Amino acid sequence: MADAQPGILAPVPRLGRYLNFSLKAGAEPRQTLPKLIDVADGNQTVVGLGQPAVLALGKTIRGLKPFPTHFGGGLVLPSTSSALWCWLRGQDRGDLLHQSKKIADTVAAAFNLDGVIDAFSYSTGRDLTGYEDGTENPQGDKAVDAAIVAGQGAALDGSSFVAVQLWVHDFKAFDAMSSADQDNAIGRRKSDNKELVDAPASSHVKRTAQESFAPEAFVLRRSMPWAEGMRGGLNFVAFGKSFDAFEAQLKRMVGAEDGITDALFKFTQPVSGSYFWCPPMTRAKLDLSAIGL
Ligand code: HEM
Repeated sequence: MADAQPGILAPVPRLGRYLNFSLKAGAEPRQTLPKLIDVADGNQTVVGLGQPAVLALGKTIRGLKPFPTHFGGGLVLPSTSSALWCWLRGQDRGDLLHQSKKIADTVAAAFNLDGVIDAFSYSTGRDLTGYEDGTENPQGDKAVDAAIVAGQGAALDGSSFVAVQLWVHDFKAFDAMSSADQDNAIGRRKSDNKELVDAPASSHVKRTAQESFAPEAFVLRRSMPWAEGMRGGLNFVAFGKSFDAFEAQLKRMVGAEDGITDALFKFTQPVSGSYFWCPPMTRAKLDLSAIGL
């Protein structure tokens, strides 16, 4: 029986690093991808494959597709193509650098390293706006049920689909809001994380309340704050057994259902958007049999 990559279900680490790779022109990842198995353990390094890598092998993974730019409503969101995504999880920046180099060298024959995002846990698991993030994440079996594929056959069970968006915060705009407006934008009180029952319909937690969808739309969020120089925000990461729940939430955030846009957009916006399929593990190793490797 295949397992999930353990880093998906584990708590968010102190430090993280995200590596995004594109396929080299004409490259054949068949020889290269299996080498990842020796350097990526699914725990300290979680691996996701984008559609370009899967298609280059002449394969498909049902449900894996490019990130849509339009979810309905008035906003068009960025979609950024990426062939390979690695989420490095750790405690030490030096270790993360060495692991990044090891991975980049291992896949260099077929993949270009296009981007590196350094991420971290802030305070007690807060977004850089100061709000607790992850409170309503499903726990235990519910987390597995939300995030991990089951009943699809040996090569797919244990895998996961992940949506990744780099959000850049406009701290000036956020700081200009009164603390009541900030709380109403999130739908929770920053001071004690209490949900505001009378929050406006535009508040982020009203938009995304997972139980309010039909069917219910649970995802396992493993986002981390990021910073570079004076810029920063949230690298939003949501694992699901498909992209359906994420898409239902984003649809509401952009106002596709009722014309009401998530108040988050007042002070932050995504600059990337990518989808990946995270292969399962068999006997503690990444299992790439679904893509014929
Ligand atoms: C910069 C971007 C974002 C920030 C700062 C942010 C922040 C937050 C915060 C502070 C909460 C409340 C505590 C919690 O339950 O975690 C929350 C809840 C949530 N967010 Fe976000 N979020 C962002 C983007 C997104 C996106 C893009 C989605 C999905 C498309 C999303 C989905 C959710 C969900 C499902 C919940 C829990 C709702 C519930 O069931 O109560 N978030 N977010």
